[in-house]
Amino acid sequence: GDSKKDQLIQMHEDSVELYHHILVNTTAGEEALQYLLDRGLTMETIETFKIGFSPKERTVLLQYLQGKEYTEQQMEESGLFITRENGDKMDRFSNRILFPVENQQGKVVALSGRLFKVTENPHFNEPKYLNSPETYLFNKRKVLFNYKRARSTIRKEKEAILFEGFMDVISAYQAGVTNALATMGTSLTNEQIHMLDRITDKIVVAYDGDNAGIEATKRATDLLTEETHFDVEVVSFPEGLDPDDYIKQKSPESFVEFVRHGRDTLFNFKMRYYRKSLNLNNESERLGYIEKILNEMLTIPSAVEREVYLKQLSEEFDLTLETLKEQFQQTFYAYQ
Ligand code: UTP
Ligand code: MN
Ligand code: MN
Ligand code: MN
Ligand code: MN
Repeated sequence: GDSKKDQLIQMHEDSVELYHHILVNTTAGEEALQYLLDRGLTMETIETFKIGFSPKERTVLLQYLQGKEYTEQQMEESGLFITRENGDKMDRFSNRILFPVENQQGKVVALSGRLFKVTENPHFNEPKYLNSPETYLFNKRKVLFNYKRARSTIRKEKEAILFEGFMDVISAYQAGVTNALATMGTSLTNEQIHMLDRITDKIVVAYDGDNAGIEATKRATDLLTEETHFDVEVVSFPEGLDPDDYIKQKSPESFVEFVRHGRDTLFNFKMRYYRKSLNLNNESERLGYIEKILNEMLTIPSAVEREVYLKQLSEEFDLTLETLKEQFQQTFYAYQ
């Protein structure tokens, strides 16, 4: 095999072991562990995802791995360290809760660390999640969090659920939704779409219920339908809540119910998306909206489904079904 790769992976597996041990068995990890328990995770879930903690001191991992006789170059290439101005190495992750990020084979190729305490330093502006840099092992365009663990359930249930973040996937998993993955905040890439295409034909996009989440949903669903033949549905969480918040605020049971049965068709999502930025009391915006919807309807192959949406439109805007059908036919022929 590729021994350079194997050794870098081994280094990551060793790091995860150490950080997980610190979280669950040492006083240095107590506060972080309590934070996770307060967020509703069980010890079993913390074990399953091998969550860890990097203490404040910045030579903990360094000394541990030096004791295992990895070379300087391997340490350099792992991305797990940063170099001080004087040339000394120190741990990249310090005082963060760590989530192992695995490749398609389930091997750890990167870490992501979450802040869990607000510091007193007024100049503090570190990111909420700090990720490993791109390395020989890790190309974030080609990774979906939880891919390997979710793969068999995705195949069995014939659909994958797509979340934004680590805690969404982990809390959902604990609630029994085990066919879920996360893009880790960034836009869905073509590489990730290809990974999904190999295991399923249906994607449920369930991003955060904030404006960033809604915009990301539009981008992801466009990408999933423009380039490929995915069947796409959308779960829209109530304003301000992400999947993990929803579980905490309602209950795991109502979350499962909502994710399974509270879905929107892609078409309904788009209708809501377009009207979000429009004032439908304004006549020209209203007409523009209706045209946009009729246009969108061109992508719906089922005549029955189109009829349902045309009825919805006719009721909402007090137009006859005949008028709308006529308009739809004109749109249709204009695009032939
Ligand atoms: P969110 O901002 O929605 O955070 O980012 P979250 O997942 O809800 O985090 P919690 O619940 O406060 O712990 C969604 C995802 O985007 C990535 C992470 O993968 C995160 O889970 N992200 C976010 C980063 O990589 N860096 C950041 O600074 C923030
Ligand atoms: Mn396919
Ligand atoms: Mn978000
Ligand atoms: Mn979120
Ligand atoms: Mn969250």
